[in-house]
Amino acid sequence: MTSPSLILALESSCDDTACAIVRNGREVLASVIDSQFDVHERYGGVIPELAARAHVLSANTVVEKALEQAGLTLNDMDAIAATMGPGLIGSLLVGANTAKTLSLIANKPFIGVHHLYAHVASNYLESDLEPPFLCLLVSGGHTQLIHVSDWDRMEIIGETLDDAVGEVYDKVAREMGLGFPGGAVLDKLAQDGDAKRFPFPVAKTKLPFDYSFSGLKTAALRAWRDASADYGNDPVPRDLLCDMAASFQATVVKTLMRKLLKCADEKGVKTLTLAGGVSANSALRQAFVELAPQGFRIQIPKFAYCTDNAAMVGACAYFNPLNVNTLESDVFSRSPL
Ligand code: KG4
Ligand code: ZN
Repeated sequence: MTSPSLILALESSCDDTACAIVRNGREVLASVIDSQFDVHERYGGVIPELAARAHVLSANTVVEKALEQAGLTLNDMDAIAATMGPGLIGSLLVGANTAKTLSLIANKPFIGVHHLYAHVASNYLESDLEPPFLCLLVSGGHTQLIHVSDWDRMEIIGETLDDAVGEVYDKVAREMGLGFPGGAVLDKLAQDGDAKRFPFPVAKTKLPFDYSFSGLKTAALRAWRDASADYGNDPVPRDLLCDMAASFQATVVKTLMRKLLKCADEKGVKTLTLAGGVSANSALRQAFVELAPQGFRIQIPKFAYCTDNAAMVGACAYFNPLNVNTLESDVFSRSPL
């Protein structure tokens, strides 16, 4: 591999402004994330215009902090990378233009990165993972089963036909009054709950490796409204919150794992990886860990590299020759690449 060794990477596709410095696609020398949680929380969702403005305010600061953390200067870098898509266009433009400007100033090559490739590449960080492997990519916007057969060959084997897993977590959590984004809070409550209290269905799909989560979403929202109605304006008991969270989470994990294992069996793949914000989920991580004794190699990103971050962009810029230089986001097709 002849890729540049030291890469300064920026990520700004949604509501986190992040900068990292990564050596040889594996070693994270610095990783800084400026979250916009406070900006969007009161609206219960990300407001694109506010996100773009907040990126403008943070972009230079995260770059300065990353260089300081690594004890390096811009001139030490071999390349500058940034996420080019998919994502919110105003947000992407801030990160991409910051990175392109830095690359012009320092006279270093610019590498544009696809956000979903970057999530997959989060598994290369601080590991010795090599293709082939299957990656279950679960985030607020995507749910995909990806076969990485070689460094430059990824195929989407299955994906959600409707809602993404993280999106459903957030919608159910919001209905339960847990704030936004509520995935992590719901996960925490689930750990104290009875997963058998609310029996939710595992959706069937026409194609064997596709997912569907809208039925589960509707069932969970309805079950919550029915169960919480008795309490009117009073606070609902904690055990009800926990049991609902546990029942919902158990069904999500069962749905995801069933198809992943079927796919691993069909493709004869023995290495399984996780990526995306929902890979921070405790039950999903546990389900992965439990596969190790069955002869699978399990690779899960560190918590810090599950949700949006720039270290994964640095890894992707190093390893993935399929990177993009435009803001077009549809290069990640379902057919083999
Ligand atoms: O990858 P990500 O940071 O952003 C994109 O969507 O690209 O993923 C964010 C999603 C949110 O929906 C959030 O609720 C979910 O990841 N999430 C979790 C957990 N931590 C974050 N979902 C379930 N369990 C968690 N522990
Ligand atoms: Zn993401």
